[in-house]
Amino acid sequence: MNPPLHRLIIDTDPGIDDSLAILLALAAPELSVEGLTVVSGNCTAAQGCRNALQVLELAGRRDIPVFKGADVPLLQPLLIASETHGSHGLGYAELPEPAIRIQPEHAVSFLIQKVLENPGEITIVAIGPLTNLALAIRLEPRFPAAVREMVIMGGAINHGGNTTPQAEFNVYCDPHAAYIVFHSGIPITLVPLDVTYQTILSKSDVLRLLENDAPVSRFIEQATRFYMEFHAEYQGMEGCVINDPLAVAITYAPELVDMKNLYVDVDISGGVSMGKTFADFYDFLKRPPNMRVALGVHAKAYIEHFLDRIEPLCITQST
Ligand code: BDR
Ligand code: CA
Repeated sequence: MNPPLHRLIIDTDPGIDDSLAILLALAAPELSVEGLTVVSGNCTAAQGCRNALQVLELAGRRDIPVFKGADVPLLQPLLIASETHGSHGLGYAELPEPAIRIQPEHAVSFLIQKVLENPGEITIVAIGPLTNLALAIRLEPRFPAAVREMVIMGGAINHGGNTTPQAEFNVYCDPHAAYIVFHSGIPITLVPLDVTYQTILSKSDVLRLLENDAPVSRFIEQATRFYMEFHAEYQGMEGCVINDPLAVAITYAPELVDMKNLYVDVDISGGVSMGKTFADFYDFLKRPPNMRVALGVHAKAYIEHFLDRIEPLCITQST
């Protein structure tokens, strides 16, 4: 068997779609998941750690270390999303008490150490607010140059916001952290709502997974049922938007999206556009692109890919 192509750390706020992203990463032979770093967002960082441990155990991957990171954003008050992800972050899913524990080290220390020990090797998939990454950048000036790439699920370029009329949740929760990351010089690929809002998991997709009655398929049904109820009630939408797994998928299957190099910034001025991400399409600012932005997605192929990759996890019983 060929060795995995990409070494990943996933920085996450698990989270229903975060859990699906973690499962997709574990299912991918192209990837080696070397740690999960947790940040407050969809739920508190403490709850998110518990959720991360439970999801790893569900998938039989007790070997992957979990590190707790920032409890609060850099400047903004803590905002969590229990209406979207449920009071504990995983919808209606109730997973067993985890036997594994979080690591004693802080998530930011782990990120810095792992990246500096492996310069140019580690891809960070950031699928929560960017607080941990901003702290790593500020704490260790050598960090940005040593990161291979950062794939960020966040922002809304030509799409409305999902948290304010203009702002996307991950960026809105900690816009100052996003500002630091966007201007860090790290090679960034941004996966905004423009593409993720085209990637909708339907009830029939979940039923396909449930054809195998296994712990992973039952978990996905219980978690996404809550998420679908949220989308129906708040957004008048059928199914649920699975934002975060797309950021994982494009680390090894970039052909699933169409990307453009752009200069992108974030509003931190505190007005009605706080947390809005905007791209300079016509080069008004005369600044070089600071990221690749996914602006198109082959949504049907991606959902099919997601189901194909998750299905084997639904056959395997958790250990
Ligand atoms: C992002 O916000 C969270 O609710 C999801 O987990 C995703 O990372 C989408 O705006
Ligand atoms: Ca998330």
